[in-house]
Amino acid sequence: MPDTRIGLWLIGAKGGISTTLMTGLAALRQDAMEPVGLVTETAPFVGLSLVGFSDIIVGGHDIRSGSLFDEARRMWVESRAITPELLDGAAGYFSEVESRLRPGTVVATGDRIRGLADMASVVVAETPREAIARIRGDIEAFKKAEGLAHVVVVNVASTEPPPALPIPKDFAEIEPLLDDAATCPLPASSLYFLAAAEAGCSYVNFTPSAGATPEAMQAVARERRIAHAGCDGKTGETLLKSVLAPMFAARNLEVMSWVGHNIFGNMDGQVLDDPRNKAAKVRSKDHLLASILGYPPQTHVSIEYIKSLGDWKTAWDHIHFRGFLGTPMTMQFTWQGCDSILAAPLVLDLVRLVERAHRAGESGAMDWLACFFKSPLGVTEQDFAKQFAMLHAWVAKHAA
Ligand SMILES: NC(=O)c1ccc[n+]([C@@H]2O[C@H](COP(=O)([O-])OP(=O)(O)OC[C@H]3O[C@@H](n4cnc5c(N)ncnc54)[C@H](O)[C@@H]3O)[C@@H](O)[C@H]2O)c1
Repeated sequence: MPDTRIGLWLIGAKGGISTTLMTGLAALRQDAMEPVGLVTETAPFVGLSLVGFSDIIVGGHDIRSGSLFDEARRMWVESRAITPELLDGAAGYFSEVESRLRPGTVVATGDRIRGLADMASVVVAETPREAIARIRGDIEAFKKAEGLAHVVVVNVASTEPPPALPIPKDFAEIEPLLDDAATCPLPASSLYFLAAAEAGCSYVNFTPSAGATPEAMQAVARERRIAHAGCDGKTGETLLKSVLAPMFAARNLEVMSWVGHNIFGNMDGQVLDDPRNKAAKVRSKDHLLASILGYPPQTHVSIEYIKSLGDWKTAWDHIHFRGFLGTPMTMQFTWQGCDSILAAPLVLDLVRLVERAHRAGESGAMDWLACFFKSPLGVTEQDFAKQFAMLHAWVAKHAA
């Protein structure tokens, strides 16, 4: 384990994934749980010299007031997904992190996300350029105050609608537009990315929001030698798609249609209930099938907000395929996963791996992290087993 402390700066620090991650970090530091769900705690990663859990210092931005402890308690009160003992054990840790949280920006977030914000505790009147400078300042101050060797910024904020204006490919065309929110084409997630890049941080986009994905942002990452990965964490239904679709392809079974209905009731679901925000997510969940199968079956993805389900997502998928002599057959599966429980350890894995890549002098889009994402950057491969082999090949190259 390296003798170094790093920062994890969470955009969306009061959300389900973030507070579950904090509960987990507190428990890992106290040896109060097994590291189940953490890929980086499996055998192949042992010789990689990854940063230890006690050496990851957390801070972040959010746009809502309210205490971290109360937010984390939702996972018990509304979802019965973690025990009150684990929450109580993390209480001191939540107060420690709370002192390192700063107000986020609502510039270019769209109406649904603005509706979530506590307007009294965010800076409402700022230009995109001012927002970038303020966010950058917060992250740099965190790094300095905590004496951190490096900071990884992770976007786990609510999913934005797709950008309303086309984003030019050349950053030089965007730069002069940063003084006016009305004409600037960048959504908030890309403003956060630029702030992270200017502060020299690595960056992970766990959401389908634009972040570092537009070509101009990727060019900024290359120019500033920023290690980054994204986008949209692959935790449930899409993970199964990327495992099962290669099986149909390998057996030359023709998938005629694949329908997936998703229902869940957490705050992410509430935001995705807006058709504009939902559009970004549906696109990310849907596009991989044609790429794996080599042809586009008829597909349908629905996402519905059902409040009573809390963080428990049920996905029901119906796959209609045909085999020898054209005979049609059906496969159906039901996935009942607890969203934040599935996502939080992956965020920790990504932080440890991206920081390790940064320490190895690597930069740009980390294509070998494709198995963590629904829409991986820098690679077209969507088959989970092949993506996982890419991860293991990278690990083998870097392990001592
Ligand atoms: N949980 C999963 O399995 C999973 C999988 C893939 C992707 N994701 C994505 O990860 C993101 C987080 O998921 P979650 O369940 O934690 O959501 P959540 O709704 O519980 O939390 C989102 C947090 O982001 C904050 N936020 C919104 N806009 C912000 C801004 N501009 N600046 C700072 N903070 C802002 C909100 O106040 C909230 O605290 C979502 O975009 C979701 O789609 C989740």
